[in-house]
Amino acid sequence: MAKRFTVNDFIESKKNGRKISMLTAYDYSMAKLLDESGVDSLLVGDSLGMVVLGYEDTLQVTMEDMIHHCRAVSRGVKGAMVIGDMPFMSYHVSIEETVRNAGRLIKEGLAQSVKLEGGSEIADKISAVIGAQIPVVGHLGLTPQSVNMFGGFKVQGKSEDAAKKIIEDALLLEEIGVFAIVLECVPAELAKIISEKLTIPTIGIGAGAYCDGQVLVTQDMLGMYSDFVPKFAKQYAQVGLSIKEAVVSYGEETRSGAFPEKKHTFKIDASILEKLY
Ligand code: KIV
Repeated sequence: MAKRFTVNDFIESKKNGRKISMLTAYDYSMAKLLDESGVDSLLVGDSLGMVVLGYEDTLQVTMEDMIHHCRAVSRGVKGAMVIGDMPFMSYHVSIEETVRNAGRLIKEGLAQSVKLEGGSEIADKISAVIGAQIPVVGHLGLTPQSVNMFGGFKVQGKSEDAAKKIIEDALLLEEIGVFAIVLECVPAELAKIISEKLTIPTIGIGAGAYCDGQVLVTQDMLGMYSDFVPKFAKQYAQVGLSIKEAVVSYGEETRSGAFPEKKHTFKIDASILEKLY
């Protein structure tokens, strides 16, 4: 059985200067492929609202959506740590509701840890989740659930005050006990300062090369999501193009009769067959 990548591996990786790889996953077959390819960690991100469910942002994603997709991912994964993203309004109302919802991602979604967006404003909620023995990943910078407060998906931490707030939040989250922090869309030099100040790893997305690990939305890095291609998302493949080419060939071969061939069909005994005419 593959050894599971754990919270200890996150911390050890930071100590040893080994960079951590994280990708998003939302379903069984893709999660299995990514896990078999040796990725350290799979985030069942609420980005599923955009890349899987077709919403304009992540705000409509529900706990039921997250649990459903977490379970599917977890069934396909043996080695990577599965992180369940807590969706908008699942941790904003009360500490009690936050802990219950985090617990559901572990118990029903079969995740090993959860991720929450935000700093000092939700410190009490994060503390309570950790108090319930649920490992937490923090998320600072461009936190997409705050898109309406930010006035759009914009790079964060560019002014002195904003940069200082992100640094303070990162230190606070470390003190509270999160085991890693996602830094999204912040200047690379700010991510460098934060990564140097922390003993827990930073996982960057649009945060440059100084972070202790990287995370990308899988559909972005495989070239499968064309609605919007972020500047920071390197495309390692053009799977979307391959899918379209395959589907065009399938349509053509279906129309021409080239598919299915003999090897794709099942036989029936001749003695039975003659009785059917
Ligand atoms: O939901 C998500 O996929 C995320 C990543 C972009 C970090 O939060």
